[in-house]
Amino acid sequence: MSNRIETLEKLRAEAMLGGGIERIAQQHKRGKLTARERLEVLLDEGSFQEMDMFARHRSYNFDMQKQRPLGDGVVTGTGTIDGRIVCVFSQDFTVFGGSLSEVYAEKICKVMDLAMKIGVPVIGLNDSGGARIQEGVVSLGGYADIFLRNTLASGVIPQISVVLGPCAGGAVYSPAITDFIFMVKGTSYMFVTGPNVVKTVTHEEVTFEELGGADTHASKSGVAHFAAENEVECLMHVRKLMSYIPSNNRDDLHRVPTTDTPDRLCLKLDTIIPATPNKPYDIKDVIREVVDEGDFFEVHADFATNIVVGYATLDGRPIGIVANQPASMAGVLDIDSSTKGARFVRFCDAFNIPLVVFEDVPGFLPGTEQEWRGIIRHGAKLLYAFCEATVPKVTVITRKAYGGAYDVMNSKHVRGDFNVAWPTAEIAVMGAKGAVEILYNKEIRCADDKMMAIAKHEAEYNEKFCNPYEAAERGYIDDVILPHDTRKRLVHALKLLETKVDTNPKKKHGNIPL
Ligand code: HXC
Repeated sequence: MSNRIETLEKLRAEAMLGGGIERIAQQHKRGKLTARERLEVLLDEGSFQEMDMFARHRSYNFDMQKQRPLGDGVVTGTGTIDGRIVCVFSQDFTVFGGSLSEVYAEKICKVMDLAMKIGVPVIGLNDSGGARIQEGVVSLGGYADIFLRNTLASGVIPQISVVLGPCAGGAVYSPAITDFIFMVKGTSYMFVTGPNVVKTVTHEEVTFEELGGADTHASKSGVAHFAAENEVECLMHVRKLMSYIPSNNRDDLHRVPTTDTPDRLCLKLDTIIPATPNKPYDIKDVIREVVDEGDFFEVHADFATNIVVGYATLDGRPIGIVANQPASMAGVLDIDSSTKGARFVRFCDAFNIPLVVFEDVPGFLPGTEQEWRGIIRHGAKLLYAFCEATVPKVTVITRKAYGGAYDVMNSKHVRGDFNVAWPTAEIAVMGAKGAVEILYNKEIRCADDKMMAIAKHEAEYNEKFCNPYEAAERGYIDDVILPHDTRKRLVHALKLLETKVDTNPKKKHGNIPL
């Protein structure tokens, strides 16, 4: 018996070393943690339960039978984050560069299947040279098995991808299908083809970091939702995100304890809107003033900054916030902000997270660049997402709600449950200047003093349309509220809406404009 135990302990110790001490040292030298160290940081202390530690590859190509490390380059299992169970896989770059074999893919699929059966999130830590070249097409098949599972699990369990090293070629499409991508500045990169291929095909000279580093994907492409300074910070962000989201699409949201009082007045909000309508203010100041303890966890912070999305709690209830940002491009809706907002809304709806909208939007961005790239198609995504969402949906119009953007931003007409406006709201087809120039075109052209004529009509228009009362008269908003009551009113609305039931017509799936 003691021999058997010794054998087990020996094998376990061997598996723990992955690709060996030297490769572990190289990994550290690159500023990266090992697959197992990452799991220790991510999960509650001592909670990790490993599966398939003794799996080995079955390949004989290129003398591979001579090297059959235990675990085969990926560490899989379960653990907890703040006491809640998650399934995890962590790719081990010290074993064949973390490359994916048949057995490796089977291990990932097994832990994903378990996550679906028990209804818990999957968190994948990626650090891999891609398909294991020695295994050829078998490795490609393994990727496809994972892609299928990613797709079937979408909207059923949250899926989080953390990219902590290379993630290239077709391998990028597993993270791409998942709900959130986290990256680390300087050490992680994602691209379909690397800098060498880019140089051959397009003659562009570009570094790994410029082409597919964390900053690039967090700000330019929007592929990454978070870019951290280092791995520990990145994994801590994953833990924080987990605190807002449920374990699956039928799970109740987890109330987060708060010391903030539900009826706290937000006095700062009474003076936050500048006297001049075109002057910006930071919508994040509004959000932080309203939510519990001023704690706003922003998603996609550096991409399409004209819309702000993220999580917070109100009286302990997790909420997803979507807000126009007047401090960036006047809060206008364009292609990137529409797709960013739409994806966020759809995640919240899939996982029953109530949506709170702060609206100050002058409309959609004009211009050939936007029209030719399809602002119609992309803007429709945000509209579609708000229309189909059946979670509790509340809107606070702080200032502008103009044109089609008024409809899009969770208006009453698209099933907004509780829509209110501040007295500073301007709900109209367009702003005064544009409207007057169209309505009084001839008169202005013929006037001796054009400026005077414009100013007179602008004043009239502002008085009639640039206020919340026309909309309130028709019930398009439920109330005009004092800004300092915003928190109190939202807490009340969300409490009421806890028992909300709404459905969409039965269908296979809708056809969101892609
Ligand atoms: C087998 C691999 C490997 C791979 C790396 N290694 N990638 N082994 N298959 N795909 C091995 C290396 O041979 C090396 O082994 C060890 O891992 C570490 O790699 P290095 O090159 O020394 O590390 P580094 O200099 O940091 O470079 C990392 C890298 C590079 C940029 C990822 O290894 C690389 O370019 N690898 C190939 C990437 C690639 O083309 N993959 C296939 C893409 S196509 P030793 O024993 O020397 O230490 C693809 C299709 C997916 O993935 C399709 C899905 C649909």
